[in-house]
Amino acid sequence: MNKKLIKEVKKSFKEQFKTKPLIVFSPGRINLIGEHTDYNYGFAFPAAINKGIVLAISKNGSQTSSVYALNKEELYKFDTVKIEPIENGGWRNYILGVVAELKLLGKPVGGFNSVFAGNIPGGAGLSSSAALENSFVFGLNELFDLELSKYEMIKISQNAEHNYAGVKCGIMDQYASMFGVKNSALLLDCRTIESTPYKIDFKKYKLMLINTNVKHDLSESAYNDRRKVCEKVSNLLQIDALRDATKDDLEAIKNDICEEDFQKALYIINENNRVKLFSKAIKKNDLMVLGDLLYQSHEGLSNNYQVSCAELDFLVERAKENPHLLGARMMGGGFGGCTINLILKDEFKNFKKDVLKKFRAVFEKDCSFYSVKLSDGTQLID
Ligand code: GLA
Repeated sequence: MNKKLIKEVKKSFKEQFKTKPLIVFSPGRINLIGEHTDYNYGFAFPAAINKGIVLAISKNGSQTSSVYALNKEELYKFDTVKIEPIENGGWRNYILGVVAELKLLGKPVGGFNSVFAGNIPGGAGLSSSAALENSFVFGLNELFDLELSKYEMIKISQNAEHNYAGVKCGIMDQYASMFGVKNSALLLDCRTIESTPYKIDFKKYKLMLINTNVKHDLSESAYNDRRKVCEKVSNLLQIDALRDATKDDLEAIKNDICEEDFQKALYIINENNRVKLFSKAIKKNDLMVLGDLLYQSHEGLSNNYQVSCAELDFLVERAKENPHLLGARMMGGGFGGCTINLILKDEFKNFKKDVLKKFRAVFEKDCSFYSVKLSDGTQLID
């Protein structure tokens, strides 16, 4: 699968550290539907993919840890006893966060040497950060016999993201990356944090991702702002989370909140319902309904929840014009990254050619196309 990547990571590790490491693969994720529902304790439908992070890691018997980011060719050394987040630390903060959270739980983590590399583009909405966090927590758990369950590990990854990267994310990304099941998507209940795998076979159709190659800087603060709005509205409704609200509940407080907040909460309630309809349509193999729900989801994300951008909207519009596409929507946190499309397999090449040309003409840059396979979650390899 990621043979080339594994080989490169092993080679780099050997050159620098001489010992034999543990090798971990941790995947990125896609999400079929259910966006921004996770921190509202609602439903999402993610799947781990066959692209992600490969990590080589071993103990070094000292207090200092070394991490080499192979793609960036950057080496970072830190004292494993004194850990703090670094301002604008980028990838370093995810690793520091994981180690710090383990320490907070009283887990004995000593110094380690490590090399990692990935083949998911960062900022594409494919959760390269969750893959990175999970690879380290999984590797350290093995290395230092920490006896953590997978559930505990994803909580550590999520806390690393909250406290060291400053994004108050939900649990979907870390969950999907850790618990992925080959050829399946996971209908995830973000309140109980349990999922049901659904075997995915779209017959003549397939999933295609298109990356806008846009990463908006405001995305982190805008993400946290969305979360605050949802919490404010659920407080007003005196419920635990928007998962528990109906449209009627929301109508009843319409005059107490501004129109924007109303629209955002409405989006969450509708999106949660769409996930349930989506799972039913998968069971019936009703591809038309699936596609339609994708388009509806995008409309809500763009108009009500306001987390899309011109490039994402443009790609979804091009999909709508082509009868061989059943549905499309932006995927992940938003403000850039990828759209997910349900396209007739035979149409892939034509559509790619056509959209590349049109995208370039309007935005004077390229979008990128990926096909992904649904895969197992974080695991030791070799
Ligand atoms: C990001 C977050 C997730 C989730 C999605 C939107 O990927 O990390 O927790 O909220 O955005 O669905």
